[in-house]
Amino acid sequence: MKQWLCICAALSLLLMACTTNKKTYVIGVSQCSVDTWRQKFNDEILTASFLHDNVGVKIASANDNDQQQIKQIDSLVAQGIDLLIVSPNQAKAISPALKRVHDKHIPIILADRKSSWQGYTAFIGADNTEIGRQMACYLARRLNGQGRVVEVMGLKGSSAASERANGFAEAIKRYPNIKVVAKTYADWERQPAQKAVETLLDKGVAFDAVFAQNDRMGMGVRTAIDRKLGKDEGEHILIVGVDGLATPGSGVEAVRDSLIDASFIYPTRGDLVMQLAIDILEGKPYRRDNILKGTLVTRDNAQALLLQNEELQNQQRHLFMLHDKVDFYFTQYSHQRIYAVLMFIIILLLVGTFVVALRAKVLKDKIKEEAVNAKLQFFTNVSHDFRTPLTLIADPVNRLLADKDITDHQHKLLDIVQRNVDVLLRLVNDILDLRKVQNNMKAIEVSHFDGAQAIKAWTASFKLMAEKNHVGLQLIQPEKLELCSDKRMLERIFYNLVSNAMKYTEKNGQITITSSADNNKTLTLAVADTGIGIPKEKLANIFERFYQIKGTKTEVNGTGIGLALVKAYVEKLGGSIHVESQEGQGSTFTVKLPMTVESGHASPNLTTAIVSINTDTKAKEEHRQVKAGTDEDRITTPYIPVERPVALVVDDNEDVRAYVSDILSEQYDVRTAFDGREGLVMALKEVPDIVICDVMMPVMDGLELCRRLKTETATSHIPVILLTARTQEEQRAEGYDCGADAYLTKPFSGQVLLARMRNLLEGRQKLRMLFSNNIQQEELPVSDSDSQFVENLRQKIQEHLSNTELSVETLGTDLGLSRVQLYRKVKALTGHSPVELIRITRLRKAQQLLASNGHNISEVAYTVGFSSPSYFTKCYKDYFGHTPKEGK
Ligand code: FRU
Repeated sequence: MKQWLCICAALSLLLMACTTNKKTYVIGVSQCSVDTWRQKFNDEILTASFLHDNVGVKIASANDNDQQQIKQIDSLVAQGIDLLIVSPNQAKAISPALKRVHDKHIPIILADRKSSWQGYTAFIGADNTEIGRQMACYLARRLNGQGRVVEVMGLKGSSAASERANGFAEAIKRYPNIKVVAKTYADWERQPAQKAVETLLDKGVAFDAVFAQNDRMGMGVRTAIDRKLGKDEGEHILIVGVDGLATPGSGVEAVRDSLIDASFIYPTRGDLVMQLAIDILEGKPYRRDNILKGTLVTRDNAQALLLQNEELQNQQRHLFMLHDKVDFYFTQYSHQRIYAVLMFIIILLLVGTFVVALRAKVLKDKIKEEAVNAKLQFFTNVSHDFRTPLTLIADPVNRLLADKDITDHQHKLLDIVQRNVDVLLRLVNDILDLRKVQNNMKAIEVSHFDGAQAIKAWTASFKLMAEKNHVGLQLIQPEKLELCSDKRMLERIFYNLVSNAMKYTEKNGQITITSSADNNKTLTLAVADTGIGIPKEKLANIFERFYQIKGTKTEVNGTGIGLALVKAYVEKLGGSIHVESQEGQGSTFTVKLPMTVESGHASPNLTTAIVSINTDTKAKEEHRQVKAGTDEDRITTPYIPVERPVALVVDDNEDVRAYVSDILSEQYDVRTAFDGREGLVMALKEVPDIVICDVMMPVMDGLELCRRLKTETATSHIPVILLTARTQEEQRAEGYDCGADAYLTKPFSGQVLLARMRNLLEGRQKLRMLFSNNIQQEELPVSDSDSQFVENLRQKIQEHLSNTELSVETLGTDLGLSRVQLYRKVKALTGHSPVELIRITRLRKAQQLLASNGHNISEVAYTVGFSSPSYFTKCYKDYFGHTPKEGK
């Protein structure tokens, strides 16, 4: 989940990175009118804006109308502009609108014309007063300081008009012989100017020159003069204008073509206006009043200016083209970037979804696997628990069945009990075996056998059931099938497949078992039935552990263990299994197994040391082997101790204690304890000859008890048999690690338990002989704790040999044992009581001393710790059969 969150965070960052840019500015431009000069101005502003990728421009034109301009300004503000560039139509009219803009903290740049309101942010434009002055001076020069002048002014109220007029008046004053004969407004346009001058001429006003405040009006004046005075007469009248635009049909061309005599370049410089706007928006330093320079255009420089302009126009066109292209590619790139990001997101989402789905599946499988394992563990535990009571049923029943005194009726009833116990044990063993195979702890036990014969016998065991169920049972197979395999596993495979077939085959159905050998290499075993069949969609799952087919007609449910075990065994033996089935028609399970199987990974150390007896086929076989082999000899030639040995039975199950006590009571003095702790206390107190204990017990388990018994000096010599339902090899190994001498798994046979105990005690007797002989030797092999103990004992006796006071108590204290413990341990290890042992050691030492001459009998008697020579002589005679004197 964490990773998924990281992916989402990364995605968000990516999206942000894609969408976040530097702040975008919108600049509003409010133009007072539409004409060539303003068009140029607007184009320059737009071109300049291309250089800034974060600037948008909105342009509106008021058509020389104050009200329209006011509306436009308000509208631009409403659209959300960041800065307003305005060229006021009239200086006064739009002031309130500008104030509103200012109140919204939107910077205002006045361009070209001014307003009466002074709260603007910056102004950029030419000095119109100076232009007026320049044109006055030019005319005065051309008129040689004498003549009559008409002034055609722009729009009344427009700052440019009044400033140019002021400048002109101020400068012309200096020429007393130049008279301004008429002044007229023409709203910056050609037609009104033409009309105004025609009116003047009609009125008979004569003049030598005209100052038109722009070129458009100048050209209108020329038309009026031409029309009213004729080209020739009017030719001598000088006309000057302002603007000096080099575009076609504008002022510079008019100068070149002598329509007007001069103009003054009134610079547009939209680029500088835009730069000023950006500086203000970005908080950079800027000048509030920015005066642009112009220059006089006369016939002398008009052509040059036109060529220069043409070149400029070309470059501008080129620039626009490039800009369009860049725009196009940028749009394409933006789209592609968005597609790429989208693709990336989609891929990420798909991968994320896939990963999440995969993880969910893995998790689900894991949970399923864990649930199955938990189930199997549960059943394994239950099976362990079942095996104990089953032991308590199986063995007494077997013993009862062997009793000749029971009636036929009782025999039949017991037969039923025995059969059903077998069924239960088989089930329990299946679960435990499945666990073992699953943990790879199940070793293959290979033997040579005739498979045909075995299959025939196994089939026969189903005959009764088949008859009872009215199901036909047919076996088709060759005479002989030489197999080298694990017979028990094969039997379990066979048994489970046929049981399964029986379970699902209805009355009058047929079960056919076929076995064959392919190339003497592969055994094919097929079990076909005409039963209810398996639904197609469930076929794939039937070998899963605990899988039960529900919803079938007959609703027969098993444990879901049998087929899982079959598959596990088949695979363990290197084979394969498959099933064909049709609902309502029947199923065929076909198993293919190698006829020769390599031996598995049984641990020889463990298997030879472990006596594992079950009541199933294997158990019976093993039991027979035990009976027929060496153990039988032990059973028939029993070990007969002088005193009855003491056996301590430790088990928390009262029935088991009672049952084991019953088995042992004929040959042993039995003590019982209900858990490890009580067992330990009892063992330390009584020092029994042998301990039989359960592994799984409360308070202190059998393994711990065993470990403690083997570490206590008093009890380390006692053979311990662990008696348990736990069959896992590693637990057996654990048992042996604790020092256990044998391991019997439940259910066990009483006979085998007795044989095993006898076996261990006989081993102890052999050890005893060894110790008895070694006790006189100077060098004793100290290989284990028992040998070490005997060596210590021997040393202690040797050390105190001459001490007549040497007692069992002293020895016990020296060795850390109580009197009883010392007695029981020494007796168990050497066959002699400690007192006897001290005496024998003294007598043997005496024999040595006597043989070495130089000592008389009395001396020797005292030296070896006898308090009287006569008693020494008596003991000597008892032990060696002759007196010390005779020996000498
Ligand atoms: C353009 C124009 C120019 C003139 C200027 C004065 O609209 O009339 O011809 O020089 O305005 O503001």
